[in-house]
Amino acid sequence: MRRKGWFQIWPLHIVMVLTLSLHLVAGQIRYSIPEEMTVGSFVGNIGTDLGLDPKRLVSGKARVFTAGGSDYIGLDREKGHLIVKERIDREQLCGELLACSVSFNVILENPMELHRVIVEILDINDNSPVFPKGEKEFEISEGSPPGARFSLESAIDPDVGINALQKYTLHPTDHFNLNIQSRADGSKNVEMVLQTALDREKKTNHYLMLTAVDGGKPQRSGTVKIHVLVLDANDNVPVFSQSSYKTSVVENAAKGTLVTTVSATDADESSHNIRYSFEHPSASVKALFAIDSESGEVRVTGEIDYERFKQFKIKVTAQDHGGFTDSSEILIDVIDVNDNAPKITIMSFSSDLPENAGIGTVVAMINVQDLDSGDNGRVTCSIDRNLPFKIESSLTNEYNLMTDSTLDREQTQEYNITITAVDRGSPSLSSKEIITIKISDVNDHAPQFQQQTYNAYVQENNSPSVSIISVKAEDADWGPNARVSYLINDGELNGAPLTSYVSINSDSGVIYAVKSFDFEQLKSFKVQVKAQDGGSPPLSSNTTLNIFIQDQNDNAPQILYPVQTSSSVVAEMVPRSADVGYLVTKVVAVDVDSGQNAWLSYKLQKATDRALFEVGAQNGEIRTVRQVTDKDAVKHRLTVVVEDNGQPSRSATVIVNVAVADSFPEVISEFTNFNHDTTYSDNLTFYLILALAVVSVLFIFSLIAIISVKIYRWRQNRLFYKSAPNLPVIPYYPPVYADGTLQRVYNYEMCGTTDSRMSDIKFVRPYSQNTLVNVSRAGTVQREKKDQEEDADLSFEFFPVPYTIICRAHSNTSD
Ligand SMILES: *[C@@H]1O[C@H](CO)[C@@H](O)[C@H](O)[C@H]1NC(C)=O
Ligand SMILES: *[C@@H]1O[C@H](CO)[C@@H](O)[C@H](O)[C@H]1NC(C)=O
Repeated sequence: MRRKGWFQIWPLHIVMVLTLSLHLVAGQIRYSIPEEMTVGSFVGNIGTDLGLDPKRLVSGKARVFTAGGSDYIGLDREKGHLIVKERIDREQLCGELLACSVSFNVILENPMELHRVIVEILDINDNSPVFPKGEKEFEISEGSPPGARFSLESAIDPDVGINALQKYTLHPTDHFNLNIQSRADGSKNVEMVLQTALDREKKTNHYLMLTAVDGGKPQRSGTVKIHVLVLDANDNVPVFSQSSYKTSVVENAAKGTLVTTVSATDADESSHNIRYSFEHPSASVKALFAIDSESGEVRVTGEIDYERFKQFKIKVTAQDHGGFTDSSEILIDVIDVNDNAPKITIMSFSSDLPENAGIGTVVAMINVQDLDSGDNGRVTCSIDRNLPFKIESSLTNEYNLMTDSTLDREQTQEYNITITAVDRGSPSLSSKEIITIKISDVNDHAPQFQQQTYNAYVQENNSPSVSIISVKAEDADWGPNARVSYLINDGELNGAPLTSYVSINSDSGVIYAVKSFDFEQLKSFKVQVKAQDGGSPPLSSNTTLNIFIQDQNDNAPQILYPVQTSSSVVAEMVPRSADVGYLVTKVVAVDVDSGQNAWLSYKLQKATDRALFEVGAQNGEIRTVRQVTDKDAVKHRLTVVVEDNGQPSRSATVIVNVAVADSFPEVISEFTNFNHDTTYSDNLTFYLILALAVVSVLFIFSLIAIISVKIYRWRQNRLFYKSAPNLPVIPYYPPVYADGTLQRVYNYEMCGTTDSRMSDIKFVRPYSQNTLVNVSRAGTVQREKKDQEEDADLSFEFFPVPYTIICRAHSNTSD
């Protein structure tokens, strides 16, 4: 029999069962107390009995959880004592059941623990046997034979065991005896049996006293007065057709539903004179059933709830006119209907779960109750399949929700878990409960730079503290675990720590120069930048930052040749027979900058005779522009400006001395005077001017003649002109921007003598045989890397230049 959900029947052993599982501690403990203890009475010390420290009880927020019922027992957390919280009436709680107990859970958190406590309620003799009525009347015919039986109402004592009703006594016993029959269910049928015939003429009224006593200490008793009125007439007794009527009714049956019909017959009278009634029905029977006194039909009058009453036993009496009665019994079984949905109670749950929680971590403890019985009350609990959680039954009606696979906050921050409880009734009923579990962050992601490597470019001569680049790393975690700070890994560059070159803003990742860079000293360097998050322990990652210094035009060209000395004069010699385009010399200059900034161009700034010389704008070659004549002066002074292509450009100037002469002595005499012109007398100057004037007139005439001839010849030779074959061919190559200063093909050596006039230049030509040099008609030389056949299409004249060293003294060459 099952009256209410919150108590259970347990064997009377005093046991303590401790069940331990991996993540959940569950124990069971049992106490016994008598009923009716005053509120606040001590029940048991769970602190000691479960081995729990009082501090643990407080910190774990220990509390009593009773599934669906009122709390009879409370917990004094500080002392660890279980105490009576509400008056416990065993009779109210368990009725006739012998063993009565209250069961509940003691729940602790952090970590979760569950202990089952069963408190057995012991009976005390607090109830006296009670008869339904204080008085009972019988009308008995004087002719009734001895042995006639008269049913008496039995007394009720809600106590159990020894405290329950034990026996009946009847007093006086001159006419009647007691006949007590035990029924199959243990209850007693009390009857009064006529011993000796009654005589109305002798005594019309008989008064008897029926006493019921229980076996408790002290003993309690109850009485009923019986009044027997002796009637004159004689009659037959009514007899029920059955000694007991068995029937059943479904719960929630509609009012008016016929349950059964009882009937009795009487030999004397027609049966419609028989009156039927319930014999002292209980309040619940009165509320739920009614009997038609004439027809004997029993019908439903209230709402029958299987969960409250599973069976009814109703005594029914048939009485005839003469007062003779017979009793029978109606047994009504209530048939359960699945009318109660399972009830889900979340006993305890932690709403915050760290993402690294191990598999099997208990997240919530759930209690499920279904008041129906049999399959209607058999419940299965489940959650959605695709969640990383599972639900498992731990104790009866209790389930643990636990993790079933690893969690990742970065993927799912929150789970709404729908717990569904379904019973097995037909149709089945279900209920749902949603719990939300938030996954809390664990530092399981390192910051990630947006790029594996960063390239930054900074102009040389930058102002210190200029920002170069900004790096960024992102962290998938949350809060402090995702707060990224940046720093530069230790390292050295040219013996100095890297931090003396660059610094980083640890919050923003902006990188600043610490000093001004010089491209000519440092072209690029690497810095390792680390991003670290604020987790504990922190995680980090690295990136490489390549910093390239960019060139600025901060260096002027430097003249390598001709060497400028203050002590001696260097002169290039040009024979008077030199033809147009004769290569006098070459100005060689370098620029330590690179690219455009090192792209040099040459210009003739000043010359004693501008018409005679020109400078190759790109190669610095000084060549004659026209045929040298005898009238040309021996000494020439050319100022060549070398300019780079930077913005703004920088330049250098060089003075080139040229001697137009056929022999050394001529030159030497001229040049020894070069610095001593002022020693000549004015007279000499005068004669010289005079001579010059004469010569000039002659010269002009001859010049006109020569020019005429030359123009004619020049026109003839124009297409076939070429430079003197044994002249050094000094090609001009476009500068290679990526490389800095001197081109590889411009490797050269200075062959210097103390006598500067004997200065030689060695040109080393490292290019290979198949590199061709083509010379255009205009005299510019270009280098082309082309296949032979391709070159054949060009209208230029080609000649391969062997790998040779040409060292030439100008003075010895005369054509
Ligand atoms: C969970 O339920 C809450 C409230 O209904 C809702 O705001 C939230 O978006 C849900 N979360 C998920 C992951 O579905
Ligand atoms: C980053 O670089 C530093 C120094 O080179 C090294 O010690 C560290 O292990 C690196 N960290 C990672 C995550 O690669």
